[in-house]
Amino acid sequence: MAKDKITVQSFKAAKTEKKAISMLTAYDYTTATLLDEAGVDSILVGDSLGMVMLGYDSTLRVTMDEMIHHTKAAARGTQRALLIGDMPFLSYHVSVSEAVRNAGRFVQEGGAEAVKLEGGPDIIDKVHAIVKAQIPVLGHLGLTPQSLNMFGGFKVQGKDIEAARRLVDDALLLQDAGAFGLVLECVPDTLARLISQKLDIPTIGIGAGPHCDGQVLVIQDMLGMYRKLRPKFVKTYAELGDATVEAVKNYIHEVREGEFPRNEHCFQMDGSLLAKL
Ligand code: KIV
Repeated sequence: MAKDKITVQSFKAAKTEKKAISMLTAYDYTTATLLDEAGVDSILVGDSLGMVMLGYDSTLRVTMDEMIHHTKAAARGTQRALLIGDMPFLSYHVSVSEAVRNAGRFVQEGGAEAVKLEGGPDIIDKVHAIVKAQIPVLGHLGLTPQSLNMFGGFKVQGKDIEAARRLVDDALLLQDAGAFGLVLECVPDTLARLISQKLDIPTIGIGAGPHCDGQVLVIQDMLGMYRKLRPKFVKTYAELGDATVEAVKNYIHEVREGEFPRNEHCFQMDGSLLAKL
């Protein structure tokens, strides 16, 4: 275990010490090694991989097997960060026993240290049971993309008094059920602040303003690689999409013009051997 390994206990301590938690998604070995080297506190193998890695138009088509495949890869590249696997649509909705079994797969097969589930009262019995099975749970409220068809699109949540009250109640319910943290997605910043103040567990915001106890972004978004959608809440820290297209254009040009490979990219053979051939 890395010396300064981040655990769910570190999340608790971070809230007490008012140290903001950084979380990013990763779905493969190489990206996970880079994020871990940079010192991110937590790596989430999000079901957003359905869109940014697999090209689906929502997260609803992502399967348990796809999640486990990518979690395994990210786990091989993660030493220090807390690795969280995102339970996909229908993997925890059918029954408590199926939810526990699937959460267990993330830990046993995938190498994750915690799982994330979307939703409030409807899934609270599953959260209880998964925590009871000694698997830490990160909750997720607000815009929960697996409920896309019920919401009727990607919309900011908690904007009227009823919805805001429900979010506060659901957050407290998840905390009581044993969640170690809570993702708040696309909720007004003042509401996210109120929820963060009411909870003892840390809130991790995405489109929820600066008053959460931590922040999470999808790595392809913050690196400018996923060009289909650019949500308002994303800050693009690098334009790797543009940089990749430029680099590939350069490569194509050099291949066509015979400028690549050069001598330094070639393996040499003894001239006398060549003569014998
Ligand atoms: O799937 C995902 O990447 C997520 C984060 C955006 C919180 O749920």
